[in-house]
Amino acid sequence: MKKFFKVIGIILGCLVIIVAGFLGYLKVAGMPSFSNVHRPNVKVDVTPERVARGRKIVSLLCYDCHFNPATNRLSGHYVADIPKAFGDIYSHNITGDKTNGIGNWTDGEVMYFLRTGIHKNNEYVPPYMPKFPNVSDEDINSIVAFLRSDDTLVAPNPAMDTVERPSLLALFLGRFVFKPLEYPKSPIAPPPANDQVAIGKYWSTGVIGCYQCHSADFKTNDEVYPEKSVGFFGGGNELKDFNGNPVYSANLTMDPDYGLGKWTQENFVHALRDGLRPDNTALPFPMARFPNLTDSEIVAIYAYLKTVPVIHNAPKKSAGYKYADANPTKGGEVYYHYGCYACHGQTGIGVCDLTHAYEKYHTNEELITWIKDPSKIIPGSKMPTWQGTIREEEFLPLAEYVRQLGQNRNIAKAQTAAIK
Ligand code: HEC
Ligand code: HEC
Ligand code: HEC
Repeated sequence: MKKFFKVIGIILGCLVIIVAGFLGYLKVAGMPSFSNVHRPNVKVDVTPERVARGRKIVSLLCYDCHFNPATNRLSGHYVADIPKAFGDIYSHNITGDKTNGIGNWTDGEVMYFLRTGIHKNNEYVPPYMPKFPNVSDEDINSIVAFLRSDDTLVAPNPAMDTVERPSLLALFLGRFVFKPLEYPKSPIAPPPANDQVAIGKYWSTGVIGCYQCHSADFKTNDEVYPEKSVGFFGGGNELKDFNGNPVYSANLTMDPDYGLGKWTQENFVHALRDGLRPDNTALPFPMARFPNLTDSEIVAIYAYLKTVPVIHNAPKKSAGYKYADANPTKGGEVYYHYGCYACHGQTGIGVCDLTHAYEKYHTNEELITWIKDPSKIIPGSKMPTWQGTIREEEFLPLAEYVRQLGQNRNIAKAQTAAIK
């Protein structure tokens, strides 16, 4: 019997050593590196048309992950909404800086990276930096032209990249599960200008990737052939809001019970352009409005969604919050009724920090001007437009409530300081 336990002990000991060795190997080996890469040898012509088109696409595709408010440039930052299981991930500086940005990458290196996920240093980068297999060649040229332009967003900035710390899971997946995509063998043409459905399909599956959030699960999405994704546009994918609470994506097929079957085209345009549902509640984070899309592009997406096979799937309902305060105010009710909390949180700290608004906007009028039409002040703002939705008499109490959020924070700070 003793001998038996000894043998088991030796086997277990060996297993532990093997597993530890394997984990150590993952850590040391890092992401796999590829040597047989054939990058295109091209120099993109930087024309004003391409720079304008590139700015639009970069605002849609790259801005959220690469824009750093501290530098006002695409200089990279900590990317909070990447699942923790992947480790601590920072996006990189993609301004024109020659040392810390991508000023010394060739156009071919940038293109190859965007298509395949293989970095200039030949290492594979997992899906926390997305790949763009279905964006047309001309739009890839436009992205590159914009990155090379003299736009302030990409003006050289010396911010150093923070080295990301991928978890063992990310390293394992990067080595054994995820694979770089193939560089396209034939040209990728843009959709024909007179084919509305093709244009809608291009925006919602080729460029923006609406389907990625709106199908069943990121794990079962097909990046190269989006329509093969499980539950294509049927919703139910579990996402996280900025507090880490689950939010489930909506069913965008034309199912009359659970999808958009009862929406009109106007409802759809209102949702994407202004960020509001038909009942004028706000689309919650991480869904945002798309102020960079024109109405005709949004209508094209709607036309395409009408051709997508209907899925009779009731996505789970996201929890939402209730307004509960010892001293409820009219402004608080408005803040919750229209769903400001969905992006700004209960304390005012969410997608941005609202608790300084009371200092930044000196009068209630200034604050109300912002809330009514943010895009007038920051073109392309992700915040919904509230003019015409919130009733006139509700704006003043709302503005006062927003001010109060900042003052509450100061009171809370003073109290903690006093306790210390
Ligand atoms: C979901 C977040 C996300 C989006 C969206 C995104 N990126 Fe990135 N990007 C990252 C992360 C994270 C890294 C760092 C990856 C690494 O090297 O490990 C990165 C790295 C890069 C790099 C390499 C820079 C360097 O010096 O290492 C380039 C170039 C780049 N991104 C360009 C783009 C462009 C262009 C777009 C839009 C078309 C885009 N990214 C969209 C997250 C993102
Ligand atoms: C980052 C993930 C994400 C992306 C990308 C995304 N959505 Fe959403 N979308 C969501 C979530 C989450 C909801 C909200 C579900 C809820 O109501 O709680 C939502 C809601 C919606 C709604 C409202 C549906 C309803 O029944 O209330 C529409 C319409 C919509 N999205 C369309 C789009 C379109 C079109 C695109 C691409 C242009 C897109 N979404 C891209 C996550 C996303
Ligand atoms: C879909 C998300 C979303 C919703 C809903 C939303 N906001 Fe915003 N809000 C933003 C974003 C993002 C910003 C940051 C500015 C920018 O990037 O456009 C912002 C900025 C602001 C600012 C300016 C802060 C500053 O420092 O300049 C105020 C004030 C504000 N929001 C108030 C509100 C109020 C009040 C509501 C409800 C009626 C509301 N927001 C609903 C996303 C949202």
